Amino acid sequence: MCGIVGYIGQQEAAPLLLKGLQRLEYRGYDSAGIAVLDGVRCDVLGGGMNDDAGVRVVKRKGNVASLGEALAGSNGAVSGATMGIGHTRWATHGDPSDRNAHPHVSADGQIALIHNGIIENHAALRVELRKHGYEFVSDTDSEVLVHLIDHLWKSIPFMNFEGAVREALSIVDGAYGICVISSREPDKLLVARNGSPLVIGVGEGEYFVASDAAPIVEHTRRVVYLSDGEMGVITRDGYTVKSIGNIVCEKGLTELDFDLEEIEKAGFEHFMLKEIFEQPEVMQDVMRGRVRLDEGRIQLGGIADQLEQLREAKRIVICACGTSWHAGLIGEYLIEEFARIPVEVDYASEFRYRSPIVGPGDVMIVISQSGETADTLAALRLAKEKGAMVVGICNVVGSTIARETDCGMYTHAGPEIGVASTKAFTAQVIVLTMLALALSKDRTMTDGEVMDALRCLNELPERVKRILDYNGEIQSIAEEYKNARNFLYLGRGYNFPVALEGALKLKEISYIHAEGYPAAEMKHGPIALIDEEMPVVVIAPKDDTYQKVLSNIQEVKARGGRVIAIATEGDEEIRELADHVMYVPEGKAFIMPLLTVIPLQLLSYYIATLRGCDVDRPRNLAKSVTVE
Ligand code: G6P
Repeated sequence: MCGIVGYIGQQEAAPLLLKGLQRLEYRGYDSAGIAVLDGVRCDVLGGGMNDDAGVRVVKRKGNVASLGEALAGSNGAVSGATMGIGHTRWATHGDPSDRNAHPHVSADGQIALIHNGIIENHAALRVELRKHGYEFVSDTDSEVLVHLIDHLWKSIPFMNFEGAVREALSIVDGAYGICVISSREPDKLLVARNGSPLVIGVGEGEYFVASDAAPIVEHTRRVVYLSDGEMGVITRDGYTVKSIGNIVCEKGLTELDFDLEEIEKAGFEHFMLKEIFEQPEVMQDVMRGRVRLDEGRIQLGGIADQLEQLREAKRIVICACGTSWHAGLIGEYLIEEFARIPVEVDYASEFRYRSPIVGPGDVMIVISQSGETADTLAALRLAKEKGAMVVGICNVVGSTIARETDCGMYTHAGPEIGVASTKAFTAQVIVLTMLALALSKDRTMTDGEVMDALRCLNELPERVKRILDYNGEIQSIAEEYKNARNFLYLGRGYNFPVALEGALKLKEISYIHAEGYPAAEMKHGPIALIDEEMPVVVIAPKDDTYQKVLSNIQEVKARGGRVIAIATEGDEEIRELADHVMYVPEGKAFIMPLLTVIPLQLLSYYIATLRGCDVDRPRNLAKSVTVE
């Protein structure tokens, strides 16, 4: 989940790399570095090329801004070069430190490599390379790869750069996205992918490489997505994509269709706040062309050909991680209620390590914002191998999960930069709602019932805007609770997964311990924790279980607990009981998660900012978890 950038062309590389790393910082931010090479006879230094000069590297523990400072104070250590590679790290092997930062360099300083992923056989390779005299300066698995390339290049007769990288990749096990440069063949940028995403941006006489399109889009909209097992050989004159086995692959160019502005903060203090406030428009985007009010139906192009097969499914298994898993839980309620197909929801990481019963006739739905989560991808592959049909719900277009599923639906939420997922979650829930309705049409729901549901969806963006208007009140509530050390979140039915998501949001960004529970389960344990030090957030809209949830609130109050209720506008009764109320507009039960989650996102955001936390880049987390 580290971020990778690369550049080869005529422009000064270092500033381009630094800017690219800033755009990728959400992928990891414990250390950063760049390596540059003067490139082929490109006399920007005025002194010509010196092939023995080696690569020039600057790397630092800390975020990209620290790297920027290091570069500024480096007396032009990397200036003048027109090709290079850059990396922002999220530690997996070895602590965040200067020496573990990428790029890693061969002992003679002639090869530099950046790596995203995990080399699983690094320990065995380390032993082998030590026998050949290699010494290691870092604790990383990645350093093994640079020495292995060096060793193969030097020890195999007539070996060249490309051959040595290819040979090394056939020896390593594990996941990688890599970029390598060498002063021995200074006009080449080599990239390869197996399990960690890589995109090549195609400009005029210049090429960009990155682990996703965010750093590329301001330079060019034409990109090539590498697939697993592919390698790109890039020079200033062009690029070739080959398999690791050296067979040329014909790759089409993809045109990027999002704007740079979309990935910038648009005046908000944090990406997370911007993304929370974007939700009304995102909801419209997700439903555009799909919710056909005039025809009284849902049109999902990505699964149109498979819809009948999906309706015949014996069972649906939903697999995902983190926030996407919470969306999956809501999906279970929706599909079972509307389409009457049995649904199970699994953590992707658990699914792959038990003996799941899944096969032909079953459908697996994988949900992933990034489309790159390693566990979700592995669950998808396992289900496919066992003969199930796999449907994807992804946000990132062209991501690995999107490409490997049999069919699917994009969430169209736009790039989500804040590590804590907000707009991607609500977009996932809307897609699942549309899917449940599409599966039920002409089977388990009447036309009138479908029409009613479509109207609710159609009114949703306006209702969410109303909740966002309560922003100031939510901020005041956050002020009162910012020093709490624990939080409990309770909800029932459709709002139980929202309680889980509310608790996750709070712990992710404010580092306050928080737990979500089905409200009725409170008596079976959590009630023992309740006192004035344990605020309890109770999701209590006016629905069939409202009276029961009110009883839960009374139970909390009777034990001295403080209650923040999420209630339906106009509910005055709850004001008498709860210490604070955050209101949402009324709505049918199935639509409530899309409303009740909004104040919870804002509450977490304000508590975290009041505590001085870096909400967009919370400690220890990463946006895209491409390792197990
Ligand atoms: C990480 C992120 C979460 C996200 C989860 C699953 O843990 O920090 O926000 O929900 O991965 O990611 P995915 O991209 O598969 O939805």
